[in-house]
Amino acid sequence: MRTTDSYIESHIINRSPQLMEMEEFARINHIPIMELVSIESFLQLLRLQNPDSILEIGSAIGYSAIRMATALPNTKITTIEKDENRAELARTYIEKNELSNRIQLLAGDALEIDLYSLSSTIYQAIFIDAAKGQYQRFFDKFSPLVPSGGVIYCDNMLMRGFTEIELSDVPRRKRTMVRNLQAFTKWLMNHEDYITTFLPIGDGITISIKR
Ligand SMILES: C[S@@+](CC[C@H](N)C(=O)[O-])C[C@H]1O[C@@H](n2cnc3c(N)ncnc32)[C@H](O)[C@@H]1O
Repeated sequence: MRTTDSYIESHIINRSPQLMEMEEFARINHIPIMELVSIESFLQLLRLQNPDSILEIGSAIGYSAIRMATALPNTKITTIEKDENRAELARTYIEKNELSNRIQLLAGDALEIDLYSLSSTIYQAIFIDAAKGQYQRFFDKFSPLVPSGGVIYCDNMLMRGFTEIELSDVPRRKRTMVRNLQAFTKWLMNHEDYITTFLPIGDGITISIKR
């Protein structure tokens, strides 16, 4: 972790015992939930935006969905997770946090999911936090659900620094993913329907506002 991030993290106050238990579970089981500095900044952006509904691609165990629902008490969230075991854990945690009435969890591949199964037809915010190589496909599939003024947020856009170094210095098994993410970034920054900015928070977040 960067020195700046650990400094900021040292000032972040404790979350509820349930949330801290999830953080610990994710750490022990190597489940990639959003970094603390990133989620705190992201939640603050969401508070400013105050969307009625959020669609998340990539729930893992439901940590970010629960944090969003807790930070925004009037917002409804739909979250999609491909991995069955993680989706089951997310369901359990959502129930434990008594948020089933505001978080719709869909188990399945977001690229295959029928748009009619989503609880809303419009999402003022979409959060893409799933397979890095597929970001453009997620963006294209769900962009029609975002109204003018709505926002699509993408996490892990720096891929732990791999996107900013020479491809020859990136481990071979990660090169295709890095190439896809770099191509997606270029495409996104030039997308005529969105105004995008790239923030170096945590692992890199892009914020794309629909015109
Ligand atoms: C980085 S984790 C999500 C972390 C979560 N947003 C959080 O911060 O608590 C990415 C998740 O996306 C899921 N995923 C990857 N590709 C997916 C797809 N096509 N559809 C749905 N979920 C997918 C993975 O199984 C993984 O659990």
